[in-house]
Amino acid sequence: MCGIVGYVGKSAATPILIEGLRKLEYRGYDSAGIVTQSDHSLNVRKTVGRIANLQDLLAHEPLEGSIGISHTRWATHGAVNRENAHPHFDQSGRLALVHNGVIENYQKLRDELIEKGEIFYSQTDTEVVAHLIGRIFEKNGKRDRAGLIEAIRHALRQVIGTYGIAVIHADVPGVIIGARHGSPLVLGIGNGEHFLASDVSAIVPHTHDVVYLNDYDIVSLQEEGFEIDTLAGSGADYRISKVEFTAADISKGDYPHYMLKEIFEQPNSVRDAMRGRLSVEEATAKLGGLEMSNSELRSVERLVFSGCGTALHAGMVGEYLVESLAHIPTECEFASEFRYRNLPMTRDTLVFVITQSGETADTLAALRESRRKGHRTLGICNNVASSIARESDGGVYMHAGPEIGVAATKSFTAQLVIMNLLALLLGRIHHLSHADGLRMISELEKLPDLVAKTLEVNEQVRRIACKYARAKSFLFLGRQFNYPVAVEAALKLKETSYIAASGHPSAELKHGIIALVSPEVPSFFIAPEDAVFEKNLSNIEEVKARQGPVVAIGTEGNKSLARIADDVILIPEAPDYLTPILAVIPLQMLAYHTAVELGCDVDKPRNLAKSVTVE
Ligand code: F6R
Repeated sequence: MCGIVGYVGKSAATPILIEGLRKLEYRGYDSAGIVTQSDHSLNVRKTVGRIANLQDLLAHEPLEGSIGISHTRWATHGAVNRENAHPHFDQSGRLALVHNGVIENYQKLRDELIEKGEIFYSQTDTEVVAHLIGRIFEKNGKRDRAGLIEAIRHALRQVIGTYGIAVIHADVPGVIIGARHGSPLVLGIGNGEHFLASDVSAIVPHTHDVVYLNDYDIVSLQEEGFEIDTLAGSGADYRISKVEFTAADISKGDYPHYMLKEIFEQPNSVRDAMRGRLSVEEATAKLGGLEMSNSELRSVERLVFSGCGTALHAGMVGEYLVESLAHIPTECEFASEFRYRNLPMTRDTLVFVITQSGETADTLAALRESRRKGHRTLGICNNVASSIARESDGGVYMHAGPEIGVAATKSFTAQLVIMNLLALLLGRIHHLSHADGLRMISELEKLPDLVAKTLEVNEQVRRIACKYARAKSFLFLGRQFNYPVAVEAALKLKETSYIAASGHPSAELKHGIIALVSPEVPSFFIAPEDAVFEKNLSNIEEVKARQGPVVAIGTEGNKSLARIADDVILIPEAPDYLTPILAVIPLQMLAYHTAVELGCDVDKPRNLAKSVTVE
């Protein structure tokens, strides 16, 4: 949430900062701002709305300078307006700061500063940090880099909350200072230039050499070099990493939207999620990142999956998979509730947190709570350099590649592949035979081709989306492995198209939900030919009996669905446990095409941001 980009070097800062902000726009797009330093002064431009607005403003009112910091905002404290857009300034107007995170004690700090005569111009929590640093800097009187670092260190000691910040001062030319706690920051090392950003995607067009900063790190960047230390001054332990993906990987290519591109990348992302992880010899999955021996895995009595949104839905599928294939009691918990439920967990409970970004604040909090209680806590993560990847006791990377569209698509199917691998591994340790394991491996190996085949329904789904786009609400229904897919489909449609939608186990219909059924409310049934197909069919009849339009997702070759449903979308035949991976694809397409039909901003839906780094 919120994106920060900083640049210092020889080139004009503005185009680099704007290009970087565009890459980070998925993190928030309520307002944007930029400040550059030139001739011992700071010059700022801010606009409400998308980066394009800021770019337009800069076309008329350009900014000079080869050093600057910039920000794209997802509003937490204070309305979406120009005053609340970052950067924020201290009292002198000579120090500028951009911030990602939440300052929890900002009201107290603000009251104290107001009492001391400071004047605030915004309603943000961020502005207090700028005032706090500026005040200490002025008081100390050391108007150089060391003085600025000292002031930042001192100020941040008073701050409770999360932050990734970048600071520049008109009297400390050519220097950017960054610091983090709880919000990501990455340093990019170029040749005679350095970068600072919330996410590596803003840096990768310029350099592949980066340092992922740790919590409580403070970094100073200049044209010719950088220094990293801890806020306590104890010397930072850092490592220069090479970014694996290229600028092309994070471009839209020929697709009109990232979401569509990412839906179509799924044959590869599904393949990558299982690459090198299937052992035919042992008829099992190999997940070395768990760092657990088979005997340690055997003693696991209970599994808990936790995550938010789409990642939670993957955990819900995981619950069914692990219980049915490995017979281990499994639960899936909202990460946001994990701390507050105080879930009783036996000593041998293994906890997995599931997250694409690896930065979701609630999921990170669940991880920390679980570890604090002494449970081995593993991450299922896409972003390899994320806080969750680093803080967990081990885990499994998704290898889905960068996901830029705010609506999660390929990360979900990659998570589902990993759920299957986990179920296979645990199943083989318990009761699955060698032959069962081999069968499952052979089915998994076919999956990328089945996913590719499923993509062929895109045009049919587009037509169905246009047919129902103006419905006032949607129902999604599924059973067993596909109940979580129904919930995920509803989330996708809500977030991209702003249509009320809900997902339920099909059998729950008659316990109240059926009251919603009418000719205006389409019901989408996920009804592949699995163990519960006949049951789903009866539920479809119940909806049709009440004039509800029905779209069914069924298995290729099925005839009975066509007799009762208004539309049938066919997916390839697969074992029950793999059907969620195929069934979700037309539903992702439905959300995409509905949003396009309604003129919604598919990749940046209103009010959302991809990486939710606040509680
Ligand atoms: C939905 C979506 C969100 C995320 C959720 C968790 O399309 O993108 O629901 O799934 O915010 O994000 P991660 O997986 O990054 O922890």
